[in-house]
Amino acid sequence: MPGVYCRDIHAFSRCPRTACAPRRRREQKGSMQAGIATGKDDRARRRRLARRLIAVQEEQRLRLSRELHDDLGQMLASVALELHSIRADSAELDARLARAAQLIDQLSARVHDAAWSLRPADLDRLGLRACLEDLVSMLCAQLGVPGDVDLEALARPLDPEVALTLYRIAQEALTNIGKHARPGRVSVTAHIWDNKLRLAVEDNGQGFDGTVAPGPHHLGLAGMKERLALIGGELTVETAKGKGTAIYADVHLSD
Ligand SMILES: Nc1ncnc2c1ncn2[C@@H]1O[C@H](COP(=O)(O)OP(=O)(O)OP(=O)(O)O)[C@@H](O)[C@H]1O
Ligand SMILES: [Mg+2]
Repeated sequence: MPGVYCRDIHAFSRCPRTACAPRRRREQKGSMQAGIATGKDDRARRRRLARRLIAVQEEQRLRLSRELHDDLGQMLASVALELHSIRADSAELDARLARAAQLIDQLSARVHDAAWSLRPADLDRLGLRACLEDLVSMLCAQLGVPGDVDLEALARPLDPEVALTLYRIAQEALTNIGKHARPGRVSVTAHIWDNKLRLAVEDNGQGFDGTVAPGPHHLGLAGMKERLALIGGELTVETAKGKGTAIYADVHLSD
């Protein structure tokens, strides 16, 4: 048997290359396949872990949102009530109390917004389409700009993980528009073709240099990419300085 010669190092020179080659190839192929299998196992394990981390993150967001709303929110509301009801005996003190009450009202509104944005949207009850329409109309009202929304394609039921991923991506893309874009208009649309769904979030604001990777403290775009990859989707960012920004989230739909 050619293989027996090969195990004996002294006999190796007697091993005809051609006789050993098929065995060697089989062994190499075997170890390559084992390597590929291990690589696949590792990737699957990493994906499972990342999914679990996201689920934990969603649970924490919900808990934080409740604490902000029920605890901090209620306390601020009581302080505001108290301040609004106090009357001082000098006009100057009254004005200062009114100013303090106004600041507490603003703080309350911010806490309420933060609690709301941390909360996982009511996707099960309302569906992705209605939740996204809410997000867009809120942002457009804040920015005072018109919004184009065409989300008819999301009327069909979606896998809950896909729906939550798309919601979080749209939420971050819209938050980025509010923080960085200064747009004149915002558009959020969804289309389906060839069993693929594309969610597009676009603005005609100031755009940015998409060829430069964001620094380590900028996590939004990277997070969108990673989250989408976990459900087999892909993120495309089209932007340039002065040319607005388009974020496309593509996912395959199950049959
Ligand atoms: N719609 C947009 N218009 C203009 N610039 C944008 C837009 N979206 C992203 N950017 C630019 O890309 C950078 C990276 O965005 P990213 O969401 O990763 O981080 P961030 O928003 O700065 O911080 P965070 O980690 O809180 O999301 C932003 O700092 C901004 O310069
Ligand atoms: Mg961001």
